[in-house]
Amino acid sequence: MSNRVIIGGQWGDEGKGKIVDAVGEGVDWVIRYQGGANAGHTIQAGGREHVLHLLPSGVFHEKARCFLGNGMVIDPWQLRDEIVALEEQDVRVRGRLFVAASAHLILPYHRRLDELREAKLRRRNIGTTGRGIGPAYVDKAWRHGMRMGDLLLPKENLERKVIEKVLDANEALSELYKSDPLPAEVIAEELVVLAKSLGPMIVNPYEALAGVREGRESALFEGAQGTLLDFDHGTYPFVTSSNCSVGGAVTGTGLPPRCLGEVLGVFKAYCTRVGNGPFPTELLADEAECLRQLGGEYGATTGRPRRCGWFDLLAGRYAVDLNGMTGLYITKLDVLDSQAALQVAIAYELDGQRLESFPVRAELLTRCRPVYREFPGWGSATTACRRLAELPGPARRYLEFIETSLGAPIRGISVGRGRDETIWTPNGVNAA
Ligand code: GDP
Ligand code: IMO
Ligand code: MG
Repeated sequence: MSNRVIIGGQWGDEGKGKIVDAVGEGVDWVIRYQGGANAGHTIQAGGREHVLHLLPSGVFHEKARCFLGNGMVIDPWQLRDEIVALEEQDVRVRGRLFVAASAHLILPYHRRLDELREAKLRRRNIGTTGRGIGPAYVDKAWRHGMRMGDLLLPKENLERKVIEKVLDANEALSELYKSDPLPAEVIAEELVVLAKSLGPMIVNPYEALAGVREGRESALFEGAQGTLLDFDHGTYPFVTSSNCSVGGAVTGTGLPPRCLGEVLGVFKAYCTRVGNGPFPTELLADEAECLRQLGGEYGATTGRPRRCGWFDLLAGRYAVDLNGMTGLYITKLDVLDSQAALQVAIAYELDGQRLESFPVRAELLTRCRPVYREFPGWGSATTACRRLAELPGPARRYLEFIETSLGAPIRGISVGRGRDETIWTPNGVNAA
């Protein structure tokens, strides 16, 4: 089986969790490689809905091993809670979860700094998830962070290190934000306890992933967030703090590019965004509310209402090109079932000029007005469809247009939340 990287093609929440779960049968490893608990990946398994923030969505395939790569920032309290919650539902995690010793830790001061900075920025804020992601990556880049491997230190050394870091952060909290100090010793004691339970999972990624590197074991790489939230290539500064695009799978695991295999993009049949920043095809008022209700568009991590809008071909092509996507999955087609007509942005207008390529700079994007092409709706339910031929004609034509315009074959169409509510189209939708 060829390895695959599953990447969000928009601003996150495209349905990556559902797709990773749906295609994950039989893989040896499912690997997260960037981000942290800012992700919220929703999966239906065993008759329940699960939201994973740190664990890979392959965890519901019993035989798969799960890996948290060095590119991640991991809140150990959250990790323990997620493991316990799954084990209480009879999903075995211990023994099949491995964590890179070089992944960074998110400590309570990262969350506090995230919240305080957002509050200070007021209306100019990013709208982060408040999970401490930005400050943790700052410490990593500043060579000041703690890593999962530190949890393997002798107790006294670990305690000393944590206390030193918290006291240091307390200075910043008080000087920059006039905020109360955090209890260094309590945090150190808690980490010692966490180190006991998480310690057995912490490994050297070079050794643990040797089978993947040598081609003996297969891997499914699970991206978090989406291409337009990429730290370097997204709508900066309204982005997250990691590389959500394909390069992150290399730097975030230590595996060479030849191990990646296929790069598959997940796109919603429309668009959503949580948090602030430009969103040219955004709908307002009642139209947005209609999609939000139909699609259940509330953040899986923070519960915030997601901003909703039409499919954007310029943004989509940018994501396909940037990642070298070799195939696509379109999700939530069923959410559009009752729309009388659909719009797709085929160009933008900026200062009287027509643009056909995505001007990723936030300053420009904010001023772009979409030029739409209208498609007729189909007015019938698609959730029960399992073959392309069962989809209503207008739905097929909508997908054919997206496939042709994005220039990569649609490999699957998701028409509901469940693993099976998917139409597999290995040869694309135009070839069928
Ligand atoms: P992720 O972050 O990319 O994994 O996506 P989220 O889990 O944050 O958001 C996707 C939401 O859409 C979840 O609630 C999924 O259960 C749901 N979902 C995924 N695919 C479909 C689909 O085809 N149809 C419908 N109606 N819901 C879907
Ligand atoms: P999944 O993996 C959607 C957004 C936040 C904010 C910006 C920065 O579920 O698709 P951060 O907390 O990362 O510093 O916030 O990025 N964001 C997401 N939006 N889905 C996500 O993850 C996101 N993770 C972060 O809303 O705008
Ligand atoms: Mg999500």
